[in-house]
Amino acid sequence: MKFFVDTADIDAIRELNELGMVDGVTTNPSLIKKSGRDIHEVTKEICELVDGPVSAEVIALTAEDMIAEGRKLAEIAENITVKVPLTWDGLKACKVLSEEGRMVNVTLCFSANQALLAAKAGATFISPFIGRLDDLNLDGLDLISDIRQIYDNYGYETQVLAASIRTANHMSECAKLGADVCTAPPQVIHAMANHVLTDKGLDAFVKDAQEAGIKIV
Ligand code: E4P
Repeated sequence: MKFFVDTADIDAIRELNELGMVDGVTTNPSLIKKSGRDIHEVTKEICELVDGPVSAEVIALTAEDMIAEGRKLAEIAENITVKVPLTWDGLKACKVLSEEGRMVNVTLCFSANQALLAAKAGATFISPFIGRLDDLNLDGLDLISDIRQIYDNYGYETQVLAASIRTANHMSECAKLGADVCTAPPQVIHAMANHVLTDKGLDAFVKDAQEAGIKIV
């Protein structure tokens, strides 16, 4: 499973990238706002840092405007993926931009039917939002499973990019369900390393090493 980082925080991306944990990056207007930086400037910097796809989201609402904005965003770097919302206009924009050979990430997906439409429109990635479904007492992971099954039934090449990841558990569950990519905030990727038994075991080993007088070689 590929790891994308869901952030516009350059330092966080750099740290994870040095560990080989970054196969791509996703941003959205809220993450750009949080970074406090100009979208073109910060996106360019991310694209220079990371080899894989970097999603930059359009803010236009009509297909025509999304296509024009998507083309402009794609000029930032070769690894830009144009992110469009899963609306009818977004699907139209996806079709045109995909046919131009650009990578397109269709975002804000909350149903299997929406995912089916995105695949038909030639999306490179579909982004089902797990956490926001969980927030409504629905099961976001069920959606990942449904989309995986539908795409496999018909051999759609659109990659399932699990988004709105909130917990380390979401990561392993998505991997078990066969998501192609998970995009997660840096803190969730860090949290994947944590286990209470690791901490407890390490404490005991450190204590025993001190008592036995074992020194660092
Ligand atoms: C990814 O592409 C999305 O922008 C992101 O995962 C949304 O996450 P959130 O629901 O935590 O805002």
